[in-house]
Amino acid sequence: MLEPDIVNVSSMKMNLLSFLLFFASTISSSLAKGSLLQTLVPSEFNDSGNARHLLEDESQAQKSDDMAQGYMSNDELEWAIQEFGQRCSNISRIYSIGKSVNGFPLWVIEISDKPGEEETEPAFKYIGNVHGDEPVGRELLVFLANWLCENHLKDPLATLIVENVHLHLLPSMNPDGFSLRKRGNANNIDLNRDFPDQFVTINDDEDSRQPETRAIMNWLRDMRFTASAAFHGGALVANYPWDGTEDKRTKYQGCPDDDVFRFMSSIYSHSHYNMSSSKEFLGGITNGAAWYPLYGGMQDWNYIHAGCFELTLEISDNKWPSAAELPILWRYNKMSMLNLVASLVKTGVHGRIYSSGDGRPLPGSITVSGINYTVKAGKTLGDYHRILAPREKYIVVATMPGYKSKNTTIWLDEGPVTLDFVLDPEVSVKGSVLQNVYDCDCNSKSKQEFVEFLWGAHLEVFFVLIVILGFLLVLFQRRAKVKFSTSRQLVGAKRTVQV
Ligand SMILES: *[C@@H]1O[C@H](CO)[C@@H](O)[C@H](O)[C@H]1NC(C)=O
Ligand SMILES: *[C@@H]1O[C@H](CO)[C@@H](O)[C@H](O)[C@H]1NC(C)=O
Ligand SMILES: *[C@@H]1O[C@H](CO)[C@@H](O)[C@H](O)[C@H]1NC(C)=O
Ligand SMILES: *[C@@H]1O[C@H](CO)[C@@H](O)[C@H](O)[C@H]1NC(C)=O
Ligand SMILES: *[C@@H]1O[C@H](CO)[C@@H](O)[C@H](O)[C@H]1NC(C)=O
Ligand SMILES: [Zn+2]
Repeated sequence: MLEPDIVNVSSMKMNLLSFLLFFASTISSSLAKGSLLQTLVPSEFNDSGNARHLLEDESQAQKSDDMAQGYMSNDELEWAIQEFGQRCSNISRIYSIGKSVNGFPLWVIEISDKPGEEETEPAFKYIGNVHGDEPVGRELLVFLANWLCENHLKDPLATLIVENVHLHLLPSMNPDGFSLRKRGNANNIDLNRDFPDQFVTINDDEDSRQPETRAIMNWLRDMRFTASAAFHGGALVANYPWDGTEDKRTKYQGCPDDDVFRFMSSIYSHSHYNMSSSKEFLGGITNGAAWYPLYGGMQDWNYIHAGCFELTLEISDNKWPSAAELPILWRYNKMSMLNLVASLVKTGVHGRIYSSGDGRPLPGSITVSGINYTVKAGKTLGDYHRILAPREKYIVVATMPGYKSKNTTIWLDEGPVTLDFVLDPEVSVKGSVLQNVYDCDCNSKSKQEFVEFLWGAHLEVFFVLIVILGFLLVLFQRRAKVKFSTSRQLVGAKRTVQV
């Protein structure tokens, strides 16, 4: 399992003054430079041959110093993240999910009013710099963190996000590729082709995967994210699953949640300065495979294996624009970035699953009638967060092994729906007292131990209980003329809460 390295504040290298000086100098130098560099790579999406291992020719090496002007180096990004963690310590936590090939930590900023604590709230992640030569996202994520810190309790959207979402920002998934100014990581592997794939048996050998890929996969085994997005460059479009097709042809290949993904992508593109006015992509969104199929990508893996609805966001035609453009790109993307995160609490269906027996939260599952996809509830709190496109009627079904499933019909107009489920154990009414022992989802060994405990040293107590219960039952039947079985059903009937 993953044990995040929590930053030791006292050992921090960060010197705030030098950071500020650096920041001031980079801003002035990038403003002085002004003009846009040429796009280095014609298209993000041309997959003819192995062209995706991008150019590493001499001329690019020459350019790289110019390119980096005004962008944070890896060390500077690390300092900025640590400094943020200090400056905004009451709404953030800094941790690392692993290391790159060259040993650079993959730092994450978590932003929440209760960072690191488990709450009945959805979690969202943004990942930047998947491709080393697409650095805009890594800078925008630092802008986003700072904006949230400065505007918490001042701006309603900032406050909504801080108080109702756990937002995790990984500014750079590929720090080695960044310092080498190339697409792949230090082993020259394209990280967005390094995940297990549903259509192609590539990357199935876990040990041969890159450390950056493994770090993401372990992170998602450890944390339950409701949705996420990864930043890329080379186009201007919000791209959604599937990324691949079974027959490898370029064609629209929607996943079971196609409506949800088109809804989420549209939130991004329509909140953006001009993404939705694209001439190339209707509405500024595209199905991945309809654009160009790829295999081993991160987005499909998130949806299939991590219960996480992930978008791939192409945020500038120019992969590596001049740093002077960064504040403008932040302005263009700011509302998109905020609205996509906020959509997790402004729409969809949310709630908790409980056992009717003892009221304990259940780690059950949520499905929606007509959509072949399962969203899991949290292990400890039993909370679930199911994004759905609004303005439709849905039947939401809650299941849990050992319990009877329940369903409720909801209408999602504007705003979210809160829907809790109270599930009844799958037992006959007769013998329900003993049966309750078997309701617990403890393993069979502890069940056995419990039964042994009952029949062992505490046999007397158990018999006294039986006698009392029997007496109460007789009394109850005589006076209320209500059968025990009926009363159990009544308990089960106060099952759902809809707000
Ligand atoms: C991809 O690149 C090849 C060779 O460089 C070129 O012939 C082709 O037109 C390009 N395709 C796209 C979609 O840009
Ligand atoms: C964080 O600190 C600021 C400034 O001290 C304070 O106004 C705010 O209430 C704090 N927020 C939380 C969530 O504790
Ligand atoms: C969006 O605006 C930028 C900056 O003005 C421009 O370069 C780009 O071509 C525009 N894209 C679309 C799709 O309108
Ligand atoms: C539902 O999806 C699973 C894969 O997640 C697939 O194996 C199954 O065949 C699908 N069922 C239907 C009815 O499409
Ligand atoms: C919903 O519950 C009803 C009554 O329990 C059942 O008849 C129906 O099949 C369920 N529908 C779904 C979609 O599970
Ligand atoms: Zn990319």
